[in-house]
Amino acid sequence: MTTKSKCPTTQVVMMPRDTNGMGNIFGGVILSHIDLAGAVAARAACASHVRRVVTVAMKEVVFKKPVHVGDVLCCYAEVTRIGRTSISTHIEVEVNRAGETIPVTEADAVYVAVDENGRPIPVLCATRAARRAKKDARPPKAS
Ligand SMILES: CC(C)(COP(=O)(O)OP(=O)(O)OC[C@H]1O[C@@H](n2cnc3c(N)ncnc32)[C@H](O)[C@@H]1OP(=O)(O)O)[C@@H](O)C(=O)NCCC(=O)NCCS
Repeated sequence: MTTKSKCPTTQVVMMPRDTNGMGNIFGGVILSHIDLAGAVAARAACASHVRRVVTVAMKEVVFKKPVHVGDVLCCYAEVTRIGRTSISTHIEVEVNRAGETIPVTEADAVYVAVDENGRPIPVLCATRAARRAKKDARPPKAS
C-alpha cells in the first residue's frame, strides 16, 4: 500500500504515559490503535444496518521499529476481504518524526459484524450480497 498520498485512518501523538521501561511506546498501545483503525475501515465497509463490529482475530503483527514519545502515529487500514459476517483488514503503521516518515508496524485484523446481542450478522444487505454472489459465480472471461 502506498501511504504517502492517502489520509491515515487514525493519527495520534504518542504521550509519555504510554512508555515502557526503555522509554519506547508499549506494543499494547500500538496494538490498540491498530485495532481502532481496522475497526473504522471494517465498519465503513458494512451496509448501514450494521451498527457495530467486534475484533475476532489479530494476526501477523510485526513491530519493525520502536515508536518514541512525540511521534505522530498514523494507521492506514484497508479492507482485504469481505466474508458473510466478517471483514478482513490490513493495517500499516507509520510515524512522522521530525518531518521523516518511518514504517513501524503492520498487522492483519479480522472483525465480525454483530447485532445488539453480540451475534454475528451479514456484513452486506441481501441485495448487495446476492449481486456479489452472482458476480462470483460468473465464469472468468477467456483472454
Ligand atoms: C466475534 C464473535 C461474535 C464470533 O462469534 P462466533 O459464534 O464464533 O461466529 P462464527 O463462528 O459464526 O464466525 C463469524 C465469522 O468470523 C470468522 N471467524 C471466526 N473466528 C475467526 C478467526 N479466529 N480468524 C478469522 N476469522 C474468524 C468466521 O470465519 C466467520 O466469518 P464469515 O461469516 O465471513 O465466514 C465471538 O467470537 C465473540 O463475541 N468474540 C469476542 C469479541 C470481542 O470481545 N472482541 C474484543 C473487543 S471488540
